[in-house]
Amino acid sequence: MKTSSLWGAPPSRYYSLLRKVAANAGVEHPTMAVLGCADGKFVLPAARRGFKVWAIDIDEVTLFGGVKKDTSGEVPVPGLANRVKAEGFEDSVEIVHGDFMAVRPDRTFDCVFTSGALQYSNNLDHTLAEMVDAVGDCVKPGGLLYIDYMLPYEEKYQGRPTCPEAPWWQEYFKSRPRWDVKYNRAMPPTLDKAHLDYPVDHYHQWGHVLARLTPGS
Ligand SMILES: C[S@@+](CC[C@H](N)C(=O)[O-])C[C@H]1O[C@@H](n2cnc3c(N)ncnc32)[C@H](O)[C@@H]1O
Repeated sequence: MKTSSLWGAPPSRYYSLLRKVAANAGVEHPTMAVLGCADGKFVLPAARRGFKVWAIDIDEVTLFGGVKKDTSGEVPVPGLANRVKAEGFEDSVEIVHGDFMAVRPDRTFDCVFTSGALQYSNNLDHTLAEMVDAVGDCVKPGGLLYIDYMLPYEEKYQGRPTCPEAPWWQEYFKSRPRWDVKYNRAMPPTLDKAHLDYPVDHYHQWGHVLARLTPGS
């Protein structure tokens, strides 16, 4: 049975990333860590394509189900674990409840993916560089790192140190030669569809970076 995420469906660029990871890894079952996985918008599409996924989030309800309240009222949340079970991927998806800055996996991955998580207010004890370093440390030599990063378009993000303007990302990768940056694009503001926690259509401004960890790093 195919299930769906309360955050909607991934953009087409995500499926192209999965193809790149599979080609780069050259194995039948590539491995991927999804940091800030919520209810699995990015996890299930990877599992359906044969990936082994390590998925972590601090939000227990999005992982294991329950009820969330947002301005639209109470929203029942099936949760990632139930989606994984309903689709029969219990052997290929490992779910971890925790903070990805505190709980480190015991292995590295063909791809590490994080979307819209670094700028969360719970991460303000860390600098952005500490977080990107830590996320990048989970990538295998020769593997891929993909980050959807938030730009400070909305007032609440302006001045937040974990949500800098686009040049920060250029500088970060320039000063980390272990990364071969495949692309780093700051996009214009886009209209994102209503989703859990933000139940009206809204504008965000995103950037996307894909980088390969130099083999031998
Ligand atoms: C914008 S949501 C994105 C969910 C999913 N990536 C998507 O786009 O549908 C970001 C998720 O990151 C999680 N998150 C933020 N900081 C985290 C941390 N330090 N450790 C684990 N999860 C974190 C939040 O709980 C939230 O579920």
